[in-house]
Amino acid sequence: MNNFASSLGNKNKFLIFGCGYSGSFFATAIKKFGCTVLTSSRSEKKDPNSFVFNSENDIIPNKKIFDGVTHILSCIPPDKNGNDPVLVKLKNQLKTLSPEWVGYLSTTGVYGNTNGDWVSEMNKPNPSQKRSRKRLNCEKEWIASDLPVQIFRLPGIYGPGRSTFEAIRNKKIRVISKKNQVFSRIHVADIAYAIIYLLQNKNSLKFHQIINIADDEPCSQKEVIQYCYNLLGLQMPEPILFEDARKELSPIAQSFWMENRRVSNKLLCKTLGYKLIYKNYKIGLKNC
Ligand SMILES: NC(=O)c1ccc[n+]([C@@H]2O[C@H](COP(=O)([O-])OP(=O)(O)OC[C@H]3O[C@@H](n4cnc5c(N)ncnc54)[C@H](OP(=O)(O)O)[C@@H]3O)[C@@H](O)[C@H]2O)c1
Repeated sequence: MNNFASSLGNKNKFLIFGCGYSGSFFATAIKKFGCTVLTSSRSEKKDPNSFVFNSENDIIPNKKIFDGVTHILSCIPPDKNGNDPVLVKLKNQLKTLSPEWVGYLSTTGVYGNTNGDWVSEMNKPNPSQKRSRKRLNCEKEWIASDLPVQIFRLPGIYGPGRSTFEAIRNKKIRVISKKNQVFSRIHVADIAYAIIYLLQNKNSLKFHQIINIADDEPCSQKEVIQYCYNLLGLQMPEPILFEDARKELSPIAQSFWMENRRVSNKLLCKTLGYKLIYKNYKIGLKNC
């Protein structure tokens, strides 16, 4: 991993809130640097390094969990009121810890629709979906917390166990074609290793509070599905026009097709120098 210099080690203790797909990938990666890692989920796990946190049932972790914490990463989406679950329940507790760093996984949905144009961190957020307005509100809550927070805006996350291959295998695939429509995406490993890269090089890189983590090649969903079928040596079903497919899509699926943007990774990859492990879906899908 030539992306790394030094610095993370056994003196560091990470709390990861919301150890789902990205959170658990990050936990596994950061443990390899010798860091102590405790992870939350909403239900009891056998793992002694896991603790229960559920903002909806008011289950908050025992104070002992927070002893010696240096880093915090939250991977939990907004609650139904559009507030951040961790801040609603634990803001005062976190502030007493004076952590070195706090990371928050957000979404590029906050940019709204750009009709296929590129968006960067310089663009003013313009969320058009209710869930993205809630997300933007959570970003604002983190910034207002005065904790040393860094926000990572993510497009569609894929990786082993969560990719188009699973959709094909589970027969949940629908090949939809919509003119000029693209989606941005990111491999889960690049989320984890981009964050680790920034932490490892914290002292030499300028601090940016908001950073997109996206791959180099936004493209149509049809292209990605076609590529998977080719790798599997199978025939892709005929694409359905979006206008015809629309009425059968759930409201949430429809809402994804209402936004068309290319997410720029220039800040992360050019200015800050992170080298993507999976630059595009072709390399990334071979890993799935
Ligand atoms: N999936 C995508 O394509 C995508 C794209 C952009 C951004 N994002 C955002 O990036 C973050 C990470 O995504 P992901 O797909 O890795 O997430 P994920 O697998 O869905 O995991 C979410 C985690 O949040 C926990 N959680 C949810 N509501 C909670 C609550 N009220 N109190 C306590 N814990 C709660 C879940 O607990 P349990 O483990 O108990 O279920 C889970 O561990 C999320 O905020 C997500 O919305 C996702």
